Amino acid sequence: METYKANTGRYETMQYKRCGRSGLLLPAISLGLWHNFGGVDTLENGRKIIHRAFDSGITHFDLANNYGPPPGSAEENFGRILASDLPGYRDELVISTKAGYYMWPGPYGDWGSRKYLISSLDQSLRRMNLDYVDIFYSHRPDPGTPLEETMMALDQLVRQGKTLYVGISNYTAEQTRQAAEILRQLGSPCLIHQPRYSMLDRWVEDGLLDTLEASGIGCIAFSPLAQGILTDKYLDGIPDDSRAGKPTGFLSPDRITDEVIAKVKRLTSIADRRGQSLAQMAIAWLLKDKRVTSVLIGASSVEQLENNLQALQSLQFNEEELQEISTVIEG
Ligand SMILES: NC(=O)c1ccc[n+]([C@@H]2O[C@H](COP(=O)([O-])OP(=O)(O)OC[C@H]3O[C@@H](n4cnc5c(N)ncnc54)[C@H](OP(=O)(O)O)[C@@H]3O)[C@@H](O)[C@H]2O)c1
Repeated sequence: METYKANTGRYETMQYKRCGRSGLLLPAISLGLWHNFGGVDTLENGRKIIHRAFDSGITHFDLANNYGPPPGSAEENFGRILASDLPGYRDELVISTKAGYYMWPGPYGDWGSRKYLISSLDQSLRRMNLDYVDIFYSHRPDPGTPLEETMMALDQLVRQGKTLYVGISNYTAEQTRQAAEILRQLGSPCLIHQPRYSMLDRWVEDGLLDTLEASGIGCIAFSPLAQGILTDKYLDGIPDDSRAGKPTGFLSPDRITDEVIAKVKRLTSIADRRGQSLAQMAIAWLLKDKRVTSVLIGASSVEQLENNLQALQSLQFNEEELQEISTVIEG
């Protein structure tokens, strides 16, 4: 295995955007390790994707305690790659992790209690062999735990130096408003919200983005390609090696209906006219909104990552294109 040396031109092409009203800049495109970096995947492929990402100015890598499978293995693999290839670059990286979904048996390994969040981040730090993460998220709101308890746990982790910033994911606009207010009072402002957002899922436009803007919170959009549906991947059926085709993939084949594929084909012809792939147009379409700080993509190969990064070459839309896209996605 050759020793990795980062590309010296890595900061020349990426755009960096301020995350809400904070001091932190995030790359317009960030990389998530939900799939393709677990114990079931090939470490060497993951390593190449991370090298290519960092070489392209992607400074932000997003994890969660449960990413794998098996749960925890994405953090372990990322920790291995950091230690072997990126040991001198920790201060150039923004690493995030989360807790909120099922992680270990019994009553303390799920949801949003102080007990779960604090022990989970300790476990994540051990798996990645890090002293601290840059962002720690409450992965989902917990209807059974007072919001104050979850937010106080986040605040405590900042005070302990185990995370620099805190964020929330999958919270509604109203839950976000309340969480942000509690965190503000505690003195550890909410840096960022991580919602699902793509041309096929626009729920954030119904209040959440306005709340984030008003509260000075950044937004990082996950599953921007609807897990691969907004690409050419499923135009002729479900390939065996795709997320929908693999037994370990989270994308249910039922989501790939004739109706969805008909939309994808119409969107592809708009992208063709713009001189882009559909994946590139789907990313650019999210970045047109100034409230979106970063688009959090996944990739199962270096080629996909390279294709997606080219979205940055063509970010402008004219009114006609936007109208045409809206007609297709609302139809
Ligand atoms: N906070 C949360 O609750 C939450 C939930 C989900 C995700 N996330 C975060 O968001 C990140 C991204 O989510 P995601 O992986 O669903 O994002 P995505 O970008 O919508 O989907 C990525 C998948 O699409 C396919 N793909 C990507 N580029 C392609 C291209 N150019 N051509 C063809 N296929 C392409 C690949 O799937 P194949 O394997 O089929 O090639 C790839 O793994 C995650 O890693 C995680 O960090 C957060």
